[in-house]
Amino acid sequence: MKSVVIYSSAAGNTKAVAEYIASKTNGTAVSIADVKPIDLEGCDTVIFGSRVHAGSIKKAIVDYNAANKDALAGMKKAFFVCCVYKDEKAEKQVAKFAAELGISTGTFFNKGKKLVTENPGEIDDFIAHISQ
Ligand SMILES: Cc1cc2nc3c(=O)[nH]c(=O)nc-3n(C[C@H](O)[C@H](O)[C@H](O)COP(=O)(O)O)c2cc1C
Repeated sequence: MKSVVIYSSAAGNTKAVAEYIASKTNGTAVSIADVKPIDLEGCDTVIFGSRVHAGSIKKAIVDYNAANKDALAGMKKAFFVCCVYKDEKAEKQVAKFAAELGISTGTFFNKGKKLVTENPGEIDDFIAHISQ
């Protein structure tokens, strides 16, 4: 797998998870706010990551996905969000984002920065799921 992890983070949790996923998937983590155009050369997998604010993921992520349909076609796609909601409320958010992005493989993480340093197994499970 060679991935590109395209993320939007405000307080650093999504960034930490994005960088962890990139490090484990032979990839690069790119903030949607930084370099454009994003280099997809040689990538077989795109993973979007976003913080959740007021029930929404970052619009720039949704817009990038929509605007680059052709470039992303044929790549494996997945997404994750960093949020405070847990359980059913979080699952409900994830389902909404899955529909919005047209990507069925998605999950949520709480306390992303802590997860990366203390319990990355949860993120590893997500990565294993994408690789299938
Ligand atoms: C203004 C604001 C609104 C938020 N709204 C939501 C929300 O609707 N649902 C949720 O689960 N978490 C919400 N959160 C929590 C953030 O998604 C969570 O802290 C996340 O880890 C932030 O990611 P970041 O550190 O990458 O910015 C909100 C946080 C802020 C500051």
